[in-house]
Amino acid sequence: MRPSAVFRDRTSYQSVRLNFVVDCRAFGFQTYLDIVWWANVARPSNLNEGMKITAELQERFRQRYGGRARVYRAPGRVNLIGEHTDYNDGFVMPAAIEFYVWIAIAPRSDRKLVLHSTNFSETVEIDLQNSITPRNHWSDYVAGVAVMLQRASHHLQGANLLIQGDVPMGSGLSSSAAIEVASGLALLENSGIHVDRLELVKLCRRAENEFVGARVGIMDQFVSSCGQAGHALMLDCRSLEYSFLPLPRDVSLVICNTMVKHALASGEYNTRRAECEEGMRLLSRSMPGIRALRDVSLTELEAHAGTLPKLIYKRCRHVISENARVTKAAASLEQEDLDNFGLLMAESHRSLRDEYEVSCAELDLMVELAGQQRGVYGARMTGGGFGGCTINLVRTDAVNDFQFRVADAYQKSTGRAPQIFVSPAAEGADEVKK
Ligand code: GLA
Repeated sequence: MRPSAVFRDRTSYQSVRLNFVVDCRAFGFQTYLDIVWWANVARPSNLNEGMKITAELQERFRQRYGGRARVYRAPGRVNLIGEHTDYNDGFVMPAAIEFYVWIAIAPRSDRKLVLHSTNFSETVEIDLQNSITPRNHWSDYVAGVAVMLQRASHHLQGANLLIQGDVPMGSGLSSSAAIEVASGLALLENSGIHVDRLELVKLCRRAENEFVGARVGIMDQFVSSCGQAGHALMLDCRSLEYSFLPLPRDVSLVICNTMVKHALASGEYNTRRAECEEGMRLLSRSMPGIRALRDVSLTELEAHAGTLPKLIYKRCRHVISENARVTKAAASLEQEDLDNFGLLMAESHRSLRDEYEVSCAELDLMVELAGQQRGVYGARMTGGGFGGCTINLVRTDAVNDFQFRVADAYQKSTGRAPQIFVSPAAEGADEVKK
């Protein structure tokens, strides 16, 4: 029996797999016979599941700190298209997913934040009256948000927090934005403060930029805070205007986790940002009106290609062509033209692989395997890159086959069992009330 891949299906909760492998070496070939039963466990609705986790968290909170707690949650995300465009004032099309960071919170009489993470089994104390500095630790995400909220003159009350997350960490599904947004919302409401979502989004992003030290764009915090169930979010990262695009009902978002995260990821992210800035600096010499790569068309880039080093030209070409793809993808989704949407996803992946150079062998393999399956409209890497996940648009009736075949082929090729998730597009952060 081979180790089997992990499947989690947030749509149907079918999750029991029996996998037999019959190895017929006597005949000089290997036959794999996968007999698979999916147990159709009656699925609690997402609402009920949320209630269950809330009740469990409240009970754990009571045992740890005593008293009753309110519970908040914020989701992770996938990005359907528009990668590495947010910090170039461009367009993105993410969707929140049904994987969350949960926070149970209740006020304290002093001005301390006591955080306990069930994932790390660790407790951290932060004194809001002292200066707070990063420690290179998971608690920085919460501490950073607290610092930015206070800098924005939101006087926070002390609190006990119990934090639990099921967004896979370091997989490009934005567990960091989820913890930031969940803690921002929880800390504010615990202090009786109401801020609008846009301000919360900006403060969370500032926490990640200035406190944690990752120069990310605004996409992840935005969709974690403002996502809408069943919809992709079309966001203009300059004006912050947005609209929601309904996702067709017979199509599933399938997320394939390569289970690798190459060490380059954060360093290369900042390098790509610097390369885009350099492209802007050079292009603005001959195009004085531009403020970001968003303002440059492909024709203009070609016209000025000679003024750019080859590498910088490639980086710019990805960003500029990707912005155009997002706009086309939005039109395709509106017309329910998923074939065209899928072609744009494939182009996006190639551009990220060849021009922006943020893919890796495992992501490329996962995308290639997806392309060989039936019922697949499109597949591409999602998030910052250098490992993590792919996002696949798959006809719902083909999802089961897709999961098994891709997992099996990926495992045979790499020796690694992938995780494959199915998630509907989820609602953004909120309090979970009984
Ligand atoms: C990370 C960042 C986002 C975005 C993506 C790439 O997820 O947090 O802001 O830049 O990478 O599209």
